[in-house]
Amino acid sequence: KAAARKKPEGFTVIGSVGDLDKNGYLQTKEVAIVRNPTNPKQLIAVNPKCTHQGCDVKWAAGEKKYACPCHGANFDANGGVLNGPATKPLTAYQAKIVGSQVLVKI
Ligand code: FES
Repeated sequence: KAAARKKPEGFTVIGSVGDLDKNGYLQTKEVAIVRNPTNPKQLIAVNPKCTHQGCDVKWAAGEKKYACPCHGANFDANGGVLNGPATKPLTAYQAKIVGSQVLVKI
């Protein structure tokens, strides 16, 4: 058994670091992950479900924000509200890189 490949307790593999860096983000129904714009060594994971009425937000890499397609709410990389109609931040999760994989604790 290679200890380095063991998943940390409670974490799930979401994708590869290669895909994260190729696309600029990783996203599933449950979680969206980007590199911290101010410290790219850190990952930031949030629940992509908009806190207004539940649409899936999309990462806009150029603007480094999550945009909701339904009513125009925007969130920063940490999930904080930039503008409404949403008033609550996106739910944040812990994320980390282990080897070549991106893991999140959902
Ligand atoms: Fe996202 Fe309304 S559901 S702004």
